[in-house]
Amino acid sequence: CVAFAWKTFIFSLMFLRTSVIANNNFTFPEDFLFGAATSAYQIEGGWNEDGKGVSIWDTLTHNHPGDISDFSNGDVAADSYHKYTEDIKLLKNIGVTMYHWDLPQPLQDFGGWANVYIADFFEDYAGLLYKLFGDRVKWWITINEPFRIIKGYSRSKGIAPSLGLPGIADYLAAKTILLAHAKAYHVYHKEFGDTQKGSIACLVDVINYLCLDDRVWEYRHLFLFQLGMFAHNIFRSSGEYPPQVEARVNNNSRAEGYIPSRLPTFTQEEVDFIRGTWDFFALNHYATYWAQNGLEGPEPSRERDSGALQLEDTSCPESSFESLRVAPWGFRKLLRWINKEYNNPRVFITESGYSDDGRLQDTGRISYYVSHMSEMLKAVNEDGCNVTAYTFWSLLDGFEWDLGYTLKFGLYHVNYSSPNATRVPKNSANVFSEIIKARKLPA
Ligand code: NOJ
Repeated sequence: CVAFAWKTFIFSLMFLRTSVIANNNFTFPEDFLFGAATSAYQIEGGWNEDGKGVSIWDTLTHNHPGDISDFSNGDVAADSYHKYTEDIKLLKNIGVTMYHWDLPQPLQDFGGWANVYIADFFEDYAGLLYKLFGDRVKWWITINEPFRIIKGYSRSKGIAPSLGLPGIADYLAAKTILLAHAKAYHVYHKEFGDTQKGSIACLVDVINYLCLDDRVWEYRHLFLFQLGMFAHNIFRSSGEYPPQVEARVNNNSRAEGYIPSRLPTFTQEEVDFIRGTWDFFALNHYATYWAQNGLEGPEPSRERDSGALQLEDTSCPESSFESLRVAPWGFRKLLRWINKEYNNPRVFITESGYSDDGRLQDTGRISYYVSHMSEMLKAVNEDGCNVTAYTFWSLLDGFEWDLGYTLKFGLYHVNYSSPNATRVPKNSANVFSEIIKARKLPA
């Protein structure tokens, strides 16, 4: 049970020069934290070893291999279950995310996150983790990317548990996730916080829905739908969903032939229980989409040069991840928005990353990271944003969910065809070592 919970952070890498330079001279403060993340299912393997039970991703990949681009699975993955000592040699520091999508199958059979009692199980599980690791782990993330979790309840394919119940199970799951997070938060501060002195956050993701241009910035329904469904209840004093969530759910409900609204309501007691359950704001950010007008209002566009909007910086590289053009200034805009909307919380960038074909000379990744960190430093120094940590996704090339092993995010290449899954540093690993040591971007 505990084995499915690891997510690790790396702090020490090697040195190499890069030709990518930042467009400012800001430095990282001494106490700024760097990390590199992984998740259990994506790298560990050992799927049926030592009494480990079946998770919903074991079930999905074994029963529906065609849902995964290359028909692969995480049975062995990067074999970190056996190679953890080697991987830990890469680490100077370790954090733990409690839930990164691999719910035990027996809990799914019980209804999964759509069953509110899962929140109680999650509280017990969190308590166990605090007891086992709380003396060493000081930064806890309860649940990774809840918006992606609930997609597994609305979609019928490719995201476990693939229930295909849009507008019903997904919103119930969203409510349970908020309650589960809040329970994990409260139990920590009631029973462990005084002695362990750690911090807790629920992690939210905004990958897709940031509009690029000020002309459409007010069209932020999609963005708020993804982020606000969770962050508003935790960070805003009203403890309510943003109106954009209600509006979109009602639109979807109509389109699906239901009477609105199917968003579960919260009692005042639940609102009070969830509100304020944060010690920092954990944010995953990858890319910025174009906005375009859709039938139901603004929609993200997958076309690189669609609509009237033009990229300001056409020199930005393109990531193979959903063909997104990298637009780092969107990152700064997002940080400014979080600062304003949620009253300047302390922000940890808990994932940020770039995928390619796995090449060792990964100039696209280096350019992505340098340009994003540069915008982040501007947000801190010029806009007053309180960002104090940046985590690279990912330490190793791993299993990319429904895309299998077709995309590579790692700072380290994993040779999946060698019997012992050899790890080889990419250029990006070397460049980050230089950045972390110098505490500034290449100039
Ligand atoms: C989000 C998820 O947390 C992680 O599991 C995934 O591999 C990356 N971002 C890239 O999609």
